[in-house]
Amino acid sequence: MGFLYLLVRISKVILMEIFKTEDWKKEKHVPVIEILEKKENLVTVKVSVGKEIKHPNTTEHHIRFIELYFLPEGEGFPLDIGRAEFNSHGESTRGPNTSTVFTEPVSVFSFRTEKKGKLIAFSYCNIHGLWRSEEELTL
Ligand SMILES: [Fe+2]
Repeated sequence: MGFLYLLVRISKVILMEIFKTEDWKKEKHVPVIEILEKKENLVTVKVSVGKEIKHPNTTEHHIRFIELYFLPEGEGFPLDIGRAEFNSHGESTRGPNTSTVFTEPVSVFSFRTEKKGKLIAFSYCNIHGLWRSEEELTL
């Protein structure tokens, strides 16, 4: 049990405290990963926030972005599949919540893979921080 082992253990504890996870499955912030289609190694994945319990979408409180990563089985590092930013939350020259335009926190990603693995999604609320969820991808 060396220094590196201790460092990894400490890092894991810190990350678990910073990122809220699927333990909060019923929470409105956790990104919901839905595998829409798997066809000839092409995977289509929908990631959204607030599927069951809607998250607020106002100038003051909203989801800013979703990121999706894929950890192929047997690999040591996750691959960055993509990031979707949600940039309109009611702001206009008349003030907060006046534009009538509010970007919804939903995004669809498509990628090819010959390996199964783990999908990992992050969402970011401007008030409540980073949230994480995972889903197994089987081929
Ligand atoms: Fe929030």
